[in-house]
Amino acid sequence: MQDRTKARFLPLILLAAALLFYTTTLPTISLARTISKSFAVSAVVLLSLSLAIGALARSWHKAVPAVPYRKFWGLVGVAFALLHAGIAFSDPLIFSVSLALSRQNVQLGLVALIIFAFLAVTSNRWAEKRLGFKYWKRLQQLGYLALAFVGLDLLVLGSGTFVRTPLGLLLGGIVAATLGLAAWDVWKNKKRSRKTGPENVSRK
Ligand code: HEM
Repeated sequence: MQDRTKARFLPLILLAAALLFYTTTLPTISLARTISKSFAVSAVVLLSLSLAIGALARSWHKAVPAVPYRKFWGLVGVAFALLHAGIAFSDPLIFSVSLALSRQNVQLGLVALIIFAFLAVTSNRWAEKRLGFKYWKRLQQLGYLALAFVGLDLLVLGSGTFVRTPLGLLLGGIVAATLGLAAWDVWKNKKRSRKTGPENVSRK
């Protein structure tokens, strides 16, 4: 398969892998729960990837071909996260709505989801023109804050037990690496702008 095709199909590949993983490792849970969990893990990977690509491409030329896909992966990631939460909310076997808001992981997930949904809605040329590129770009960087909420969500899930499972460690590692990469990118740019002046620092 060509790289371009693989990039376009990445969300489906991730979702299929997650479905396979849950049906083989947790065969007794309901179908709704399997699907909700599969959307959740695929969303974490897609959103992290979408947020990491810019910083990665500035330091590693091999990541440059992936740059055109970051918006697509981000939007599909938000759609997957919405489906995950929607299925979880609508299936009483997963949890009851009355319990929902008292659970810490749901509160954190809800904050992340609201930020991501807002960024998805404003991720277009119309919003960019209305706000001006500088403020629009700053707004889009709230994605890192939303991802930090996802990281906290993972930390408290199952009273801290999820993050100690191999899948929890993998997802937590992906989120931490993305946030670390973003912080390093900001630091690197600040250092460069101190040397050359802010007008000479370009950010893709
Ligand atoms: C209103 C928002 C949200 C609600 C109501 C919600 C609800 C839930 C629930 C009930 C679980 C436990 C599922 C189970 O044990 O079957 C869960 C797990 C999870 N959630 Fe969310 N969530 C929300 C937002 C998010 C967001 C924004 C993300 C990431 C993008 C996310 C990622 C995950 C992950 C990775 C799991 C662990 C899956 C597993 O147990 O294997 N959630 N969520």
